[in-house]
Amino acid sequence: MSTTETPGSSSLTVGIIGAGNIGSTLAKLAVDAGHRVVIANSRGPETLADLVAQLGEGARAATAAEAAQAGDLVVVTVPLKNYRELPAEQLAGKVVLDTNNYYPDRDGRIAELDDHSATTSELVARHLAGASVVKVFNNIFFVALAALSAPAGDPARAALPIFGDDDDAKATATRFLDSIGYDAVDGGPLARSWRSENGRPVYVMPYATNGDVSTPAPADAATVRSLLEAAELHDPAQQPKPLS
Ligand SMILES: NC(=O)c1ccc[n+]([C@@H]2O[C@H](COP(=O)([O-])OP(=O)(O)OC[C@H]3O[C@@H](n4cnc5c(N)ncnc54)[C@H](OP(=O)(O)O)[C@@H]3O)[C@@H](O)[C@H]2O)c1
Repeated sequence: MSTTETPGSSSLTVGIIGAGNIGSTLAKLAVDAGHRVVIANSRGPETLADLVAQLGEGARAATAAEAAQAGDLVVVTVPLKNYRELPAEQLAGKVVLDTNNYYPDRDGRIAELDDHSATTSELVARHLAGASVVKVFNNIFFVALAALSAPAGDPARAALPIFGDDDDAKATATRFLDSIGYDAVDGGPLARSWRSENGRPVYVMPYATNGDVSTPAPADAATVRSLLEAAELHDPAQQPKPLS
């Protein structure tokens, strides 16, 4: 997408905690959209020198606490098993975009998720007391996330579901998505965010061609809405392995 910002979106400092597949992809989309990025991993800023050099002058590496502190909004994109390591104190009062998915083989069994008494983002929100958590970006493979960004009004623009308990935070998330080339579909509160998690109809495959996740294809807002409604609960132990 062009670096021209869309009307109504302003240049933000975006904190990104997690610099893997999704974190580095979002960092590039954000820098390309004219935002500043402060990105962190678990091993320390010095290990991110190559990434920030590739991203250019709009990006710098930091600790997770510094990225949280610096961000006007902050993306948390670490494996779910590590969510308790997120810097809750520095994230209090922030809009936090949570990309987490639950994979028991990677994350261990989590009782509240297995018995459907909580969603992954509700667990993150409990840990991040005082932050406004929005679930987003969890249902798209990072290759597709990089590839499908498109300007507003482009008929091939893709839509992503968002969930949250704070309408202002969801509005902030929607503006950020717009600025990096995506429409947002409000799926409701965090309690409903299981509808976009792995194994559900809106998870990954709507953004693939004939089941091939390496060949991205856009899903529009109407498709996303209808797939969210089609979701049913099932046993997380039966879910597929992580894509990356
Ligand atoms: N891969 C996908 O296409 C995809 C799509 C949608 C959603 N997701 C979900 O998004 C999350 C991230 O996925 P990913 O594929 O990007 O993971 P990934 O490639 O494994 O990267 C994880 C990143 O998190 C960092 N990290 C781990 N613990 C941390 C901590 N305590 N503080 C700061 N950084 C920490 C890691 O840093 P170090 O390397 O230094 O340890 C690494 O940079 C997962 O929940 C995943 O299920 C993934």
